[in-house]
Amino acid sequence: MNPIHRRQFLKFIGASGIAILAGWPDKILAQSSALPFTPLGSSPEDALTLAQGFSWQKLIAWEEVINTQSETFGFNNDYIAFLPLDSSGKDALLWVNHEYADPVFVSGRNKKDPPTQMQVMLEQYAVGGSILHIRQNAPGDWSLVKDSQYNKRISGRTEIPFAWHEPIAGASKAIGTVGNCAGGKTPWGTFLTCEENYDAHYGENVRTQDGKYVYQPGSLHWTDHYPYPTQHYGWVVEVNPKTGACRKLVSLGRIAHECATFARAKNGKAVIYTGEDANDECLYKFISDSDQNLDTGELFVANLEKGEWISLDIRRQTELKKVFGTQTEVQIHLRDAAKIVGGTPLDRPEDIEINPLTGEVIISLTNNKPKGNYFGALLKIQEEGNDPGSRKFTSEILLTGGKETGFACPDNLGFDPQGNLWMTSDMAGMHKEPYQTFGNNSLFVIPVKGPQAGQVIRVGNAPIDAEFTGICFSPDGKTLFLSVQHPGENSPSLQELTSHWPDGGNAIPRSAVVCISGPSLEYFTLGD
Ligand code: FEO
Ligand code: CA
Ligand code: CA
Repeated sequence: MNPIHRRQFLKFIGASGIAILAGWPDKILAQSSALPFTPLGSSPEDALTLAQGFSWQKLIAWEEVINTQSETFGFNNDYIAFLPLDSSGKDALLWVNHEYADPVFVSGRNKKDPPTQMQVMLEQYAVGGSILHIRQNAPGDWSLVKDSQYNKRISGRTEIPFAWHEPIAGASKAIGTVGNCAGGKTPWGTFLTCEENYDAHYGENVRTQDGKYVYQPGSLHWTDHYPYPTQHYGWVVEVNPKTGACRKLVSLGRIAHECATFARAKNGKAVIYTGEDANDECLYKFISDSDQNLDTGELFVANLEKGEWISLDIRRQTELKKVFGTQTEVQIHLRDAAKIVGGTPLDRPEDIEINPLTGEVIISLTNNKPKGNYFGALLKIQEEGNDPGSRKFTSEILLTGGKETGFACPDNLGFDPQGNLWMTSDMAGMHKEPYQTFGNNSLFVIPVKGPQAGQVIRVGNAPIDAEFTGICFSPDGKTLFLSVQHPGENSPSLQELTSHWPDGGNAIPRSAVVCISGPSLEYFTLGD
């Protein structure tokens, strides 16, 4: 990283970073020393490679049986959340999202061909999420407790009620959850799973320039056999991992939600940050009426030029009253409402994490190719008074992707227990310009202190066509749970596979959750 990028980055990483910057000239800051490993370069290999002193083991992969009812782990594992089951830290529940089903692997059809009903059923079963009871055998070494009563699948076929005071498209329940990308975790022990690209599954009512809504069918053709209303998808779903009970939180609005990140306002109210991962879509904040649930509250959209969170409450916005009849309609058409009140279009806001050292809100802006932004950036929001309940904020770009910084297309983020920032990339179209020099998608760490503070250090490379997702640390910092998602995704057929990870040989590729551990991980996560 050159000194200017580094200085920008150090501004957000807290007092320790600033102290180092003040006392160290740039030429010394730029030196890399004391790392217990050599950072990785780019890789085109069909392998999960990690820097020296990191090791990995597979926890679970697609189609493996998870319980005595023979339910199986879903496809394309994504977001991961961890909930300790007891004070020993040895038993825990993991929630793992299953984002989408690739028909080539799941149902044996070409993506463009119309499916049979059975093929759609197979695809519906492969998405949603898994609740897993896991046990630590030794630091960094975890396995599934196979006969645990907690192990369950939530899928595209599970009946899920809406948490709202009136029906949605005439129903109080939806069938299934789909497009489960990233998510969040609440202090009351529930997980949030976000329905991102629901339109591929159940289509979308798109607002035309004259204000009418026109239905566009989804690319997967599920509605050929299951014509469920699109309004039933695009929500944040709250999951109780101990019971498996789920609810669709209409309060958080309906968009292609990437994630739902919890914060606590200074007055104690629950706050959720969420963004829509699409070109020129917006960043949102929800302030709950309560300190212990997300059932009702007020939604806001970010206007970066004014530094204001703008209310999406129909009672406060006359412009919304002209277009929508009720608050429920606003919730359903949230992206259109956001534009009407002046939400700032962004370059694909994906993951959002709160810096535990400073309270600042860090957002991945992955890219915006039609606007010529191929490499993305990290955006920082600083709430007024450092209060997530505030209506005002300042914002700045912290770090931009590109050849100089060594990464492109930031997607998932995670702070470790010491406050170091971990980041994964999602370069769809990797191995073609302008992404060729970056190799496969990767895992990076950006330390907050020490001689490497502010540097972007590559510690992992993914197999061919895969991306890493779901950065999740065990509370003791000794394990990094990580999803390896969609290896071999560009395989045109089972006869022409681009990846054979993780089993090798001629095996078909399988998404899997891995546990990363080792002294190099602990160098960052356990600190001095
Ligand atoms: Fe599912 Fe925006 O990544
Ligand atoms: Ca993502
Ligand atoms: Ca992504």
